[in-house]
Amino acid sequence: MTTTGIRQPQHLKEITSTKENRTSTQFDELDRVLGGGAVKGSLVLLGGDPGIGKSTLLLQVCGELAQKQTVLYVSGEESPTQIKMRAQRLEIDSEQLYIYSETDMSEIRQQVNEMKPDFLIIDSIQTMNEPELDAVVGSVTQVKEVTSELMKIAKNDQITVFVVGHVTKSGGIAGPKILEHMVDTVLYFEGEAHHAYRIIRSVKNRFGAANEIGMFEMKGEGLAEVKNPSAIFLDERLPNSTGSAVVVSMEGTRPILVELQALVTPTAFGNAKRTSTGLNTHRVALIMAVLEKRGGLLLQNQDAFLKATGGVRLDEPAIDLAIAVAIASSYKEKEINQTDCFIGEIGLTGEIRRVTQIEDRIKEARNLGFKRVYIPKNNLKESLRQSEGIEIVPVVSIQQALNYLF
Ligand code: TYD
Ligand code: MG
Repeated sequence: MTTTGIRQPQHLKEITSTKENRTSTQFDELDRVLGGGAVKGSLVLLGGDPGIGKSTLLLQVCGELAQKQTVLYVSGEESPTQIKMRAQRLEIDSEQLYIYSETDMSEIRQQVNEMKPDFLIIDSIQTMNEPELDAVVGSVTQVKEVTSELMKIAKNDQITVFVVGHVTKSGGIAGPKILEHMVDTVLYFEGEAHHAYRIIRSVKNRFGAANEIGMFEMKGEGLAEVKNPSAIFLDERLPNSTGSAVVVSMEGTRPILVELQALVTPTAFGNAKRTSTGLNTHRVALIMAVLEKRGGLLLQNQDAFLKATGGVRLDEPAIDLAIAVAIASSYKEKEINQTDCFIGEIGLTGEIRRVTQIEDRIKEARNLGFKRVYIPKNNLKESLRQSEGIEIVPVVSIQQALNYLF
């Protein structure tokens, strides 16, 4: 066996481990989705629709980071003057923040070599160009090549790199999806452009938990952190309305309470319509089928519209029970108590199945003033530790829950 210059397999026991070196972005909401701050030498992809606030967030982050470290912000989309205007609006005036309007990767590489910044921002991946490649800017080939180039910069020079990727509707420009497997961390900015709230979600993280969320509000002077999202999601609840039920959903390590709404009305013409906003349509269809078959609700000739309020997208099993209750409440035109909330997965036989992290969920519900929580019976044992100040109602089946409620 030769050992000349070729990497050899190492004994796991002999490999030394180092704790990753992290820097706080000074935004708790962002630090959390990164797994506790930005990891030195990592490549982070920030995806989202155009205009959602990616450049704004990164410029704000740069403003904080450049108080102590060197930051190079490369923009292929805006001129330095435009960025300066935005920076003034955001009241950013940091010593060590460098703005560089460039799209040519060989120029960028040279600047990075000279400056050796601690942080490098690339806004956006779709505007960058590797001149040696015979492919148009924004194409899959270009975008992938530039990304692997940035990965080398991150790893070899131990520079933390943030890359912006616009989610694209047309096929001509490559979207951030195709880069997910190449980078360390993938964050997506969610929210509706005409709503002020923005959710940043980690869908992949080599240095932390995936599915963690952070919440921001877009204001006149940039993005502001929202420390208590539940309060926002419940903010506009109408008292005594039917078709509304509150769920405690785990988003990463954080429990949030969200109002789920259902509007069930007789189908006037043709096939029954089913639409949902912020909820998985298949999940809703399955729950409606279970309600019909096991709960005795005649839903086949009813249109149903479902919504998770506040622009949030929920997709975890524990939201099933609240969806079912909201639908039943609208169908029966009977309201749910304002201080009740619901946790539980529904199985095909109508059973309410155990969920994860029940204690954290109940604690959050109690903190927000809820007085009663419906949970899967199989979760009862762990729940009892949190039973002070909140009534816990264990249920085994959807039939039982409906009997209890209506
Ligand atoms: P931007 O960060 O440019 O979006 P992206 O980089 O994801 O394409 O955000 C642009 C929107 O944000 C634009 O519609 C204006 C709005 N905005 C504010 O409301 N307040 C602000 O302080 C800033 C800088 C932008
Ligand atoms: Mg931008």
